Amino acid sequence: MTDVFGTGDHEQVVFCHDRPSGLRAIIAIHSTALGPALGGTRFHPYSSEKDALVDVLHLAAAMSYKNALAGLDHGGGKAVILGDPTRDKTEVLLRAYGRFVQSLGGRYITACDVGTYVKDMDIVARESEFVTGRSVSNGGAGDSSILTAFGVYQGMRAAAEHIWGTPTLAGRRVGISGVGKVGTVLVDHLLADGAQVIVADINDQAIERITAAHPEVAVAPDTAALVREPIDVYAPCALGSALDDPTVTALHAKIVCGGANNQLEHPGVEKLLDERGILYAPDYVVNAGGVVQVADEIGGFDFHRAKARVAKIFDTTREIFKFAERDGVPPAVAADHLAERRMSEVSRLRKILVPGSRPSEARQG
Ligand SMILES: NC(=O)c1ccc[n+]([C@@H]2O[C@H](COP(=O)([O-])OP(=O)(O)OC[C@H]3O[C@@H](n4cnc5c(N)ncnc54)[C@H](O)[C@@H]3O)[C@@H](O)[C@H]2O)c1
Repeated sequence: MTDVFGTGDHEQVVFCHDRPSGLRAIIAIHSTALGPALGGTRFHPYSSEKDALVDVLHLAAAMSYKNALAGLDHGGGKAVILGDPTRDKTEVLLRAYGRFVQSLGGRYITACDVGTYVKDMDIVARESEFVTGRSVSNGGAGDSSILTAFGVYQGMRAAAEHIWGTPTLAGRRVGISGVGKVGTVLVDHLLADGAQVIVADINDQAIERITAAHPEVAVAPDTAALVREPIDVYAPCALGSALDDPTVTALHAKIVCGGANNQLEHPGVEKLLDERGILYAPDYVVNAGGVVQVADEIGGFDFHRAKARVAKIFDTTREIFKFAERDGVPPAVAADHLAERRMSEVSRLRKILVPGSRPSEARQG
């Protein structure tokens, strides 16, 4: 089994089992330094329990950093349900999962992730009040990919300003790998800004949808061909590990900025990007629009307020590039430092006793 105590800083890992419904889930809370842990539920047919545990620990830690730099009062957590969502997902299983989420009393707040959708969160919410990403008709924030794509576009504008002096993609050629929910909305923003767009996707229907809506969009045969195109910006919007050594070596782009999570295939890729003079906008910074959207649901969702918050991704990305330049480190390292600083500074405030709070909480430091 993974060495949870030895390798991670996670606060709590909960194994949830309900044999009659077939529920096997793991909820990982990495940090509550900034508030209740917030992060989605991934429903995936893991090949082993160990794989599921490794994934949830990694994803939960990433949420702490994402939420910190998004300026949210939330720590990081994530959950995985082991199984095939197309076969194993039932009302009873989701409700059983909801009862485990509820049993944590608000230390963990869930949302959608790969394999779970707004309609699933509506069902989980029948057993738990600590659920976001519900449908609009149920008081939820709805599809989070809208503001995720808007945030990626803001990060890309900040990167364009850093490299070319103006915060626009007008006249630039942008290559997008993956035109699913996020990639499709990103195409709209880029075309409206005056960019040329070329896309790649393994799903022919996704390509057909884009080219039917926008005949001016070019298509590359696959992602390997896309990265070799003379593009100015590369936007990974499919799955994780998009940036491995061969891809970075082949890239023509001056900027990498996309919606996919966990883009760096291994530690050290950020240095290779830097050495090749490619500006990398850290994934968890620019794709935080979705979590900002669902966090807004907790106080009663307001799309315009959430969008205004997501627009700040422009300033955050800009600040990261500035720090990276000043400290002579890659932007990914600068982002981690800024996130850790916010977690440490804000959580330190708990030392100040507020009447009514628990004395033990006030004394810790
Ligand atoms: N949806 C959100 O709000 C959100 C928020 C933060 C991060 N993300 C991340 O953004 C990425 C995209 O999310 P999404 O919601 O658009 O997912 P999606 O499933 O709707 O779209 C992904 C697209 O990528 C394509 N794809 C898969 N493998 C590919 C490959 N090898 N080459 C080219 N295309 C490939 C798929 O066919 C699909 O069209 C994921 O990594 C996700 O974790 C999404």
